Amino acid sequence: MTGPTATRTPAGEAVAGATDLFHALTGSEPEGVWSAPGRANLIGEHTDYNDGFVLPFAIQHRTAAAARLRGDGRIRVASTFAPEPVEVALADLDALFRAGGRGTGAPSAPTVPEWAAYPLGVAWALRALIPDWAGGTLPGVDIAIASDVPVGAGLSSSAAIEGAAASALNELWGLGLDPVTLAQVGRRAENEAVGAPTGIMDQMASMLGHADAAVFLDCRSLETRSIPLGFAEAGLEVLVIDTGVKHAHSTGGYGERRASCERGAAALGVAALRDVTPADLPRATELLDDVDFRRVRHVVTEDQRVLDTVAALAADGPRAIGDLLVASHASMRDDFEISIPELDTAVDTALAHGAVGARMTGGGFGGAAIALVDHDRVAAVSDAVRAAFSAAGFAEPHLFTVVPSDGPRRDV
Ligand code: GLA
Repeated sequence: MTGPTATRTPAGEAVAGATDLFHALTGSEPEGVWSAPGRANLIGEHTDYNDGFVLPFAIQHRTAAAARLRGDGRIRVASTFAPEPVEVALADLDALFRAGGRGTGAPSAPTVPEWAAYPLGVAWALRALIPDWAGGTLPGVDIAIASDVPVGAGLSSSAAIEGAAASALNELWGLGLDPVTLAQVGRRAENEAVGAPTGIMDQMASMLGHADAAVFLDCRSLETRSIPLGFAEAGLEVLVIDTGVKHAHSTGGYGERRASCERGAAALGVAALRDVTPADLPRATELLDDVDFRRVRHVVTEDQRVLDTVAALAADGPRAIGDLLVASHASMRDDFEISIPELDTAVDTALAHGAVGARMTGGGFGGAAIALVDHDRVAAVSDAVRAAFSAAGFAEPHLFTVVPSDGPRRDV
C-alpha cells in the first residue's frame, strides 16, 4: 500500500455513532449532540505541569456525546468503547471519586471501568462547582459517546471525551461556563476521577482550538494566544505516525517524571520549573543527581523551544521550525527518556526522507510521532516509515494526516 494508511473516519461518523448508540440505549432521540476534538502537540512536552509553555493544536478527529436529561437524579453513560453502559446516582459520584480515582478511596463505593470515569468524572467535577443548582436538584442525564480519535496514540482521546461530555452537560444543565473553566473541569476529572496525574494542556487544546492555528498556552496564568500555523499555505502536512504501542498515564513513568520535576524545583528553591532559565542549569548540576538534572534540563530547554517556535512561526513561517522539533525529540529521547525505539525510528526515518521536522508528541512511552512533511512527499515518507518498521520487526504503524481544527461545538 502506498501513502498514509487511511484518513480516519470523518467527524460526522462520531456524531452518527453517538446518536445511534443513544437510540439503542434509551429508545429515544437525544436532546442534542456535542463534540470536541483530540489534539496533537506541536511542541512543549511535559512543560504543562511545570507551569510552562505549550503549543498544541486541535485535530479533525472528534468525540461526540449525544445526551438528554432524565427525570431522576441518575447519570447513565454508554460508549462504543465498551459493551455495557454504566449508571450511578449523581449523589453517589462524590463517594466514587472523592479519594482520587475510580472509587479507590471509598471501600463501600462501586468502582467503574476506566472509560466511564472520564464522563462521570466530568459530571462530578461540574457538580462540585454548582452545589446549588437553580435552587433545586440537578437532573439526571443519559449520555452516549462515540469517537474517531485514536485511543492510546498520544492524541488525547481522553480530553476529547471530557470536552464532549463537559460541553453537553454545560448546556443541558444551563451552567454557562466558559471554555477555560470547562478545561479545568476536564483536568480535574482526569486527575481525580481517573487518577492520571496529567497537566492541563490537552483539555485547553481541545476546548480552545481553532482551524489553521495552534493554542499557545501559558500553563501558569492559563492565558492563551491563537498562533496561525499556515501549514496548508506553505504546502506542508502534519503526518501522524501512530506506533500502535499503547501508553497509559495513570501508571508508572509519567508520575515518576513529574516527581523528578518537583524534586528539581524544590532543590532550586522555585515554585515550578517554569521559574528556571537555561542560565540556571550549571547551578542545577550541583544540586541534583544526574537523572533529575536531565529531567530538569529537558523541561527548561523545552520551554525555551516553545517560545522560539512561536517567534519562528511569526517571523519566518512553518518551514523555520523544523530544527526546534528535532531538538525537542532529542531532548525527550536523551534527557527525559520517554521515547521508545518505534518513535525514534519514526522520527529518524521521516527526517531521512525529507520531513521538515519530526518529534514524538504527547506523554510518551508509546503513542505517536508527528512529522511536518511537504504535501507531495507524504506518500514517500509514509512508505519509508512502514518499510523501516518492518525491517526493525515492529508492528505496522498507522499513518494519517491531521489538520489544525476548531474546538468544541454543538453538532445537532
Ligand atoms: C499527556 C498529559 C499532558 C501533558 C503531556 C506531555 O498528554 O495529558 O497534560 O503533560 O502528556 O506533554
